[in-house]
Amino acid sequence: MKVPLANLLCITVLASSGTSFPLERRGAAAGKEKRVQYAAWDDVNVLAHGLLQLGQGLKEHVDKTKGQVRDITIKMKVFNVTVSELGKLTQMLQEDSEALKAKAQNLEESERLILNVSTDLREKTKELLKDRQKDHERMNKLEEKVDGLMQGEGLEAANGNYSDARIIQWMLEAQNKRIDDLVERIKQQQEKLDKQNVRIRTLQNQIQMKKELSSLKRKEDEVHLNASSEQRDSPVAMASDCHELFLRGETSSGLYTIQPIDSQPFEVFCEMTPEGGWTVIQRRQDGSVDFDQLWQAYQTGFGSLDGEFWLGLEKIHSVSRGGNYILKVQFSDWRDEVQSINYPFHLNGEESNYSLRILERPAGNLESSLSTETSGVPFSTRDKDNDQKNDLNCAKQLSGGWWFSNCGRSNLNGRYFVTPAPKQRHQRKQGVFWKTWRGRYYPLKTTTMMIAPAEIENKS
Ligand SMILES: *[C@@H]1O[C@H](CO)[C@@H](O)[C@H](O)[C@H]1NC(C)=O
Ligand SMILES: *[C@@H]1O[C@H](CO)[C@@H](O)[C@H](O)[C@H]1NC(C)=O
Ligand SMILES: *[C@@H]1O[C@H](CO)[C@@H](O)[C@H](O)[C@H]1NC(C)=O
Ligand SMILES: *[C@@H]1O[C@H](CO)[C@@H](O)[C@H](O)[C@H]1NC(C)=O
Ligand SMILES: *[C@@H]1O[C@H](CO)[C@@H](O)[C@H](O)[C@H]1NC(C)=O
Repeated sequence: MKVPLANLLCITVLASSGTSFPLERRGAAAGKEKRVQYAAWDDVNVLAHGLLQLGQGLKEHVDKTKGQVRDITIKMKVFNVTVSELGKLTQMLQEDSEALKAKAQNLEESERLILNVSTDLREKTKELLKDRQKDHERMNKLEEKVDGLMQGEGLEAANGNYSDARIIQWMLEAQNKRIDDLVERIKQQQEKLDKQNVRIRTLQNQIQMKKELSSLKRKEDEVHLNASSEQRDSPVAMASDCHELFLRGETSSGLYTIQPIDSQPFEVFCEMTPEGGWTVIQRRQDGSVDFDQLWQAYQTGFGSLDGEFWLGLEKIHSVSRGGNYILKVQFSDWRDEVQSINYPFHLNGEESNYSLRILERPAGNLESSLSTETSGVPFSTRDKDNDQKNDLNCAKQLSGGWWFSNCGRSNLNGRYFVTPAPKQRHQRKQGVFWKTWRGRYYPLKTTTMMIAPAEIENKS
């Protein structure tokens, strides 16, 4: 504006000097100094007036221009503020959008965690994602607009047209509202998800509890089963002899399974009497079983428990080693007279060839048919001669297996003869006999040997 002003002044000066020359020339031509002077004053007046007018015009113009410049500056300032506000708003918008994105990601993750809770939920999330896409697009448009404003349309704004800025502001407000809405909806979704989570956890707990309960029940069943199988097989639960069965309430004679301590269970025939239970170890009654057996058979036993039998040295040993035992020997003759003898005894094990020790010297003659040697008499069979006759095998000479000392006192495991006995002496020798009762050659009709704890005698 300075240049046009200078030009204007120059023009004015030129104009004034231009008018003065013609005035001078005119005065010289008239030849009169006063007239020239008078005429010159008029000219000056005119000139001054013109100048005054010019100056006023100039001043008006400058004032006007100044006002315009001030206006422009103010408008620029306003625009500057608007732009900086826009920048801030844009940043906030971006931050909000970032938070929104994070929240949406959280949402997705939660959704993945809660598998297939409801399709409704998944659809809502989809909707949300769509909204987010729309927002994104809107934001892009907004950014374009702001960019444009900064580049070219700024002039328009400087000219007083704020409509674009207002539009942007309005849009931002709308955007903010939208974001708020979305946040609210996300909150609702999260609440729903939380509720679903709680429900799922409750269900899982219930399932877990049910599982634990059923496994507990299975364990209990197992324990039950184990306990019952133990009861069947437990050595503690089984009686160690017939007297124990008697004490448990068994009163009828017959077959039972017992299990002495440190032994396998086995069947026995129990003779139950009013005083107690006897474990039968030998029976002869009809000659149905061959008693002329070897060592091995006498060790393990043979015959039939409800008929004639030998229980077996090992079993007799295992039952009687549990305490003080009594051996009852019972026999009958062919007139059915019955006799019985009791011996407190101890039967050693295999290592001493099942030697039998009679602990108390028998009172009468009847009892002396069993040797009462304090060292005991070992068992002998045909194939294992442990008798006290050096030149003779008693078992071979007589028959069966027995605690032979010399060969003539007793042999309840001899041959079974139905009376009358064979006439030949060497045959009659082999019979079942008890020398001190019916004599050396009298074949007994029945014999029974049985054992029981010594306490049984105190009751009878
Ligand atoms: C507008 O802002 C810029 C910096 O952002 C500054 O340099 C300029 O002077 C400002 N203009 C007015 C008129 O305030
Ligand atoms: C979840 O649902 C989809 C289809 O609805 C199915 O294919 C998938 O097996 C489901 N997953 C589970 C863990 O139930
Ligand atoms: C502002 O610009 C728009 C077009 O962008 C125009 O229609 C409107 O008349 C303008 N307003 C003013 C006050 O200049
Ligand atoms: C029951 O016995 C079986 C083997 O007989 C064993 O494997 C199982 O652990 C036992 N159960 C319990 C609960 O003792
Ligand atoms: C047991 O019998 C065998 C064979 O008859 C004999 O060799 C052994 O010495 C006997 N043992 C005892 C301790 O009597």
